[in-house]
Amino acid sequence: MKILSIETSCDETALSIIEASGTVKTPKFKVLANEIASQASLHAQYGGVFPAVAKREHTKACIPILKRVLTEAKMEKPLKKKVSDKKQERKLSKILDREPELLKDLLEYIPLIKKPKIDAIAVTYGPGLEPALWVGVNFAKSLSSAWDIPVIPVNHMEGHILSVLPTDGKNVNTKDFPLPAIALLISGGHTELILIKDWMKYKKIGETRDDAVGEAFDKVARMLGLPYPGGPQISRLAAESRKERVGSEGPHSATDARTEQFSSKKIAYPQNLLFPNILPRPMIHTKDFDFSFSGLKTAVLYLIQKINETPKGLTEEIKKEIAREFEDSVTEVLMKKTMLAIEKYGAKMLIVGGGVSANTHIRESLAKSLGSSAPKLKIYFPDKGLSTDNSLMIAMAGYFTYLKKKKHSISGIKAKGNLSL
Ligand code: KG4
Ligand code: ZN
Repeated sequence: MKILSIETSCDETALSIIEASGTVKTPKFKVLANEIASQASLHAQYGGVFPAVAKREHTKACIPILKRVLTEAKMEKPLKKKVSDKKQERKLSKILDREPELLKDLLEYIPLIKKPKIDAIAVTYGPGLEPALWVGVNFAKSLSSAWDIPVIPVNHMEGHILSVLPTDGKNVNTKDFPLPAIALLISGGHTELILIKDWMKYKKIGETRDDAVGEAFDKVARMLGLPYPGGPQISRLAAESRKERVGSEGPHSATDARTEQFSSKKIAYPQNLLFPNILPRPMIHTKDFDFSFSGLKTAVLYLIQKINETPKGLTEEIKKEIAREFEDSVTEVLMKKTMLAIEKYGAKMLIVGGGVSANTHIRESLAKSLGSSAPKLKIYFPDKGLSTDNSLMIAMAGYFTYLKKKKHSISGIKAKGNLSL
């Protein structure tokens, strides 16, 4: 079947069209079109996502992106003449009552094209920013009404889990994705450890008690005067710091040392760092699977305040060191808790998803430490482009949801900002 998917939970307006077939255990996905419009640069001035701006931008982007995906999938077939249907227009006006700009674009575009050969529309209905989610949900409902196609409501976090599945048009081999699995979901809004005993059966075993890890990256970046989104910026500075350490004696960073310790080679903690292990590793020794990152963020703030009182102040070199030390702290905590969960539940697979999973140091450290402590464990990260929010993952999760539920009535679909797995 062909699925059109829509993702508007945060600051990306993303639409895709995929061809999906097979069962939940052996699905097959082929990408027909995939488009995304990011608002990140607009939100940079606020240092984070501003919900009203996000809503407005999604509203503007929907039809231009729909046009692009339909063209890309060769599904945009113009009609010989515009077909207007007053009854239909009234229905659409009701659905898009709160998105007048989108309604205008939709009423100009839809009567010009033939109904595309799409079997279902998958849309993120939560979790996320509610005003932003509503745009996607109402857009999906309006297309559903105009073309008489069912809507599949999708949980964004399930999308992040399934973002690791291949989209190359070949059947997924069940053996490559053995269960039980642990999913480490690390994004701007979430930090969760999920136990997956069976596909589509998720149990949250741990989560952050305060800030999400991506949020901590963004806030620390802001303290260092770096633009939003802060994750990639911190990661870049931290990598520079590590690179400059190559050639110096001993492990190049605290995490390198920890990674070695995890792989049971006892080595000395590096002495050659500007701030050797100065930041806390919150909750690293607790036996549960919860996290906390707000204390770490505050520790960075105090450190910066102290440095600002010194004659040199916050130099570029010190910024790099702080970025690296912060990234090390986060990485160590994530590594430790994930490993604990894998051991406790005898997981055969680890899936790491969400925007922060784009982080190279976190990827490499997890792969290295788990590769030696659990050599049989299968570890999956999404392609870097699918780590952050995208609609391909929503299309895949939509297919899974469709297989489970088959039919949905659009009237019951509502955006849910706090939706949980
Ligand atoms: O999954 P996502 O795109 O949106 C949410 O569902 O929240 O995640 C966005 C988060 C942001 O906080 C961003 O700073 C972070 O992912 N991020 C990164 C990196 N790339 C994106 N964090 C650390 N390192 C990165 N390379
Ligand atoms: Zn996300």
